[in-house]
Amino acid sequence: MAYTTILTEVLENILTITINRPDKLNALNRDVFNDLDKVFDEAAVNEEVKSVIITGAGSKAFVAGADIAEFSSYSSDEARKLSSRGQQVFFKIENFSKPVVAVVNGFALGGGCELAMACHFRLCNEHAKFGQPEVNLGLIAGYGGTQRLTQIIGKGKSMEMHMTGKMMDAAEALNYRLVNYVFPADQLITKAREILQSIHTKAPLAVAGAINAINTACTSTGNDGFKHEVEIFGNCFSTEDMKEGVSAFLEKRKPVFRGK
Ligand code: COA
Repeated sequence: MAYTTILTEVLENILTITINRPDKLNALNRDVFNDLDKVFDEAAVNEEVKSVIITGAGSKAFVAGADIAEFSSYSSDEARKLSSRGQQVFFKIENFSKPVVAVVNGFALGGGCELAMACHFRLCNEHAKFGQPEVNLGLIAGYGGTQRLTQIIGKGKSMEMHMTGKMMDAAEALNYRLVNYVFPADQLITKAREILQSIHTKAPLAVAGAINAINTACTSTGNDGFKHEVEIFGNCFSTEDMKEGVSAFLEKRKPVFRGK
């Protein structure tokens, strides 16, 4: 499949998606959303792909937000459609059954911060900056930022970030657990690949089950998430990989998982 706004490469079972509009700091326009939508559909059925990295082209930005140039002519109805479309693509990423990691190599602002938060977890380099600066444009976040930032860093800090539009540096992002790790720029991709390669040695259906169950923690009410965990835990017992994992442990050997 040919894409116009992203670069893709599959190396050692890791699909790297690079948002490729460096002259616009990788801002998310309609074409980027279409490309992201398509590439995740393809990656879902591509057995060679076991995990995904999303990053930005160039050394300055991961993604500096939604493409502000597209906003000037929108009506409220068109803006609602744009917001829904962005949310739909980001839900697809969040619910992807293979691990998706954001490798944040610079500014992750507005839609860029929201894209990073839709990924399963985030790593960044020392000069990364996170923020939801929409308030400077007379807007609020529209691709899930009010929800996910609140889930990840808590209500008070999320309120502050959305109300002030101020950026958070890498050290603060680590402190607030918006990122799992901060690495020097020249080691960032290698470290992300190491983490993903270690996940590749685990049972894929169990990894998918964990993603599914953990996502429920943020969306369910009452005991629904706990009930969902019971269901997925039970489903694992019908997989060949679970039998292999338990047998391998008891036989003191390494398991060979087949994703079945
Ligand atoms: N949408 C569209 N274009 C964007 C963009 C965005 N979100 N962010 C940056 N760009 C473009 C700039 O217009 C500029 O294009 P030009 O060279 O054709 O004029 C180019 O990317 C480089 O950006 P520039 O502002 O010159 O870089 P900088 O280093 O001075 O500042 C930022 C970097 C990230 C601080 C600044 O670009 C910025 O504030 N961007 C907008 C962030 C934002 O509000 N995001 C939320 C959008 S809802």
